[in-house]
Amino acid sequence: MSLFISFEGVEGSGKSTQVHLLNNYLIDKGFKTLLTKEPGGTEAGEKIREILLENKFKLAPYTELFLYLASRSQNTIYTIIPALESNKIVIADRYSESTIAYQVAGRGLPEKIINEVNALATKGLSPDVTFLLDFDPEIGLQRIGYKKDRIERENIDFHLKVRAAYKKLSRQYPDRIYMVDASRPPEKIHQIIINKISNLLPQLKGNKQNNHAHK
Ligand code: TMP
Repeated sequence: MSLFISFEGVEGSGKSTQVHLLNNYLIDKGFKTLLTKEPGGTEAGEKIREILLENKFKLAPYTELFLYLASRSQNTIYTIIPALESNKIVIADRYSESTIAYQVAGRGLPEKIINEVNALATKGLSPDVTFLLDFDPEIGLQRIGYKKDRIERENIDFHLKVRAAYKKLSRQYPDRIYMVDASRPPEKIHQIIINKISNLLPQLKGNKQNNHAHK
């Protein structure tokens, strides 16, 4: 058995901090993990990430969508599925919900079609649990400072739509998408996340590294 955990949130919500805190916690407990992020997660995905986030290109909405999905397909097939098959806990910094929040809510692309093409990119794979770090994007963007990427440069209305879409998703899928108030101190958020997943961990027989390899 394996476990697929994803993190979602607006810009500057502290996702990466929580991803690393959780990864360190799990490694410390002796679990085998794989960290990945989107766009990215593979060599080709990292190139796609550059095209998407550099301020070099003007991208049409569907160009943007297909690039995110191209990166997701690579990441799913060559990184995530093999890791799950070798019993690792996969922690993804963004996955499908980002596309619903940013391309559907933010850009206004049609949800039904995007869900269908996204299912092709993921091969129907969905995280077992998703932590949504809910945060005010205005403060998040201030945290980022002057050096903003192509998406971070979008106006505040875009980012507010993204936040609202995430909240809606967490209401739609309450069993999987768990919303955390990300204005709390990072250590407190980490505790909430650990408490939430701790009931899933004992089931992960066979995941643990052997003690010789770990210590
Ligand atoms: P990040 O790795 O710093 O979170 O940057 C990724 C950016 O890409 C962020 O602005 C969210 C955006 N994004 C989408 O618009 N759609 C997607 O499907 C994904 C995965 C990310």
